[in-house]
Amino acid sequence: ENSEKKYRIGVSQCTTGDSWRKDMREGMERELSFYPEMSMTEKDAKGNTQKQIQQIQEFIDEKFDLLIVSPNESKSFTPIIEKAYSSGIPVVLVDRRTTSDKFTAFVGADNYRVGLYAGMYANILLKGKGNILEVGWGINSSPSIGRHTGFLSAIKKHEGLHYMASLWSSVDSVKTYLQTHPSVNLVFAHNDRLAYDVYRICEELGLNQKIKIIGVDGLAGKNEGLDLVRSGKISATILYPTGGEEAILTAAKILKHETFKKENELFTTVIDPQNVSIMFSQLQKVKEQQRDIERQSSKIAELIQTFSSQRNILYFTTVL
Ligand code: FRU
Repeated sequence: ENSEKKYRIGVSQCTTGDSWRKDMREGMERELSFYPEMSMTEKDAKGNTQKQIQQIQEFIDEKFDLLIVSPNESKSFTPIIEKAYSSGIPVVLVDRRTTSDKFTAFVGADNYRVGLYAGMYANILLKGKGNILEVGWGINSSPSIGRHTGFLSAIKKHEGLHYMASLWSSVDSVKTYLQTHPSVNLVFAHNDRLAYDVYRICEELGLNQKIKIIGVDGLAGKNEGLDLVRSGKISATILYPTGGEEAILTAAKILKHETFKKENELFTTVIDPQNVSIMFSQLQKVKEQQRDIERQSSKIAELIQTFSSQRNILYFTTVL
């Protein structure tokens, strides 16, 4: 498209429909605005593994300069990512990994740690005794595997904690499960959207006094993690930053041949009623600063405009 855009970045997303992915995209766009020489094209696989593999192939065929990929599943993406990487296209994996170490850089929080924190917090909530259910969107992506394994290893340390099952299918299955297993005391949901679904099911079944819920993500916004914790609908959420800015920052370093780190671990922590307001005000501050930056850059653009028209006037008056 634009001739001054020297570098084309292809972004391959497993899905873009949810608020978490939107937050990631916004972060990418914000960071990208600092690099006029770079452009980005996003392809959305809408949760379809075959489609995403095909979209990555298209990026390779179209000779994009760098790929940012969040693979829908882990194992089935290993060949295509290795192929891109071996053909000389740098690949930045964000949030989700393959099973191979043939990639240029990774940006994301440690999902094993996310699961571990959830399990440790479950133990605190249940005071060492209770029945636990786990709910996720699938078991083939690296976040699912990491969260599940980390959670289990924390739970196993406590004899009084009874791990009942993991449900990987639809929310309907959660409803049926809770109806037939009213002894559940706590649900670990793999993200805040699922946590909110579980909350609503519990409400419908009259179980929300009895069942505690832990989610993952911790976004700001209505019915997002922070709001759910603040309103007491869920007990806690484990922060999982989207990493959009960091992904572009890393991509820029790679493209400009600057030094970069292969592993870029993002921070995670438990957000509960104790620290939720601090988290809110921090995010608020970042948003305000972002608005200031946008105001300043439009002011600068305005000044440049004025300057160049004045220079024209000056030029004409001297010439004439
Ligand atoms: C968004 C999402 C998040 C989750 C992440 C894991 O698409 O499901 O809620 O933390 O992906 O990859």
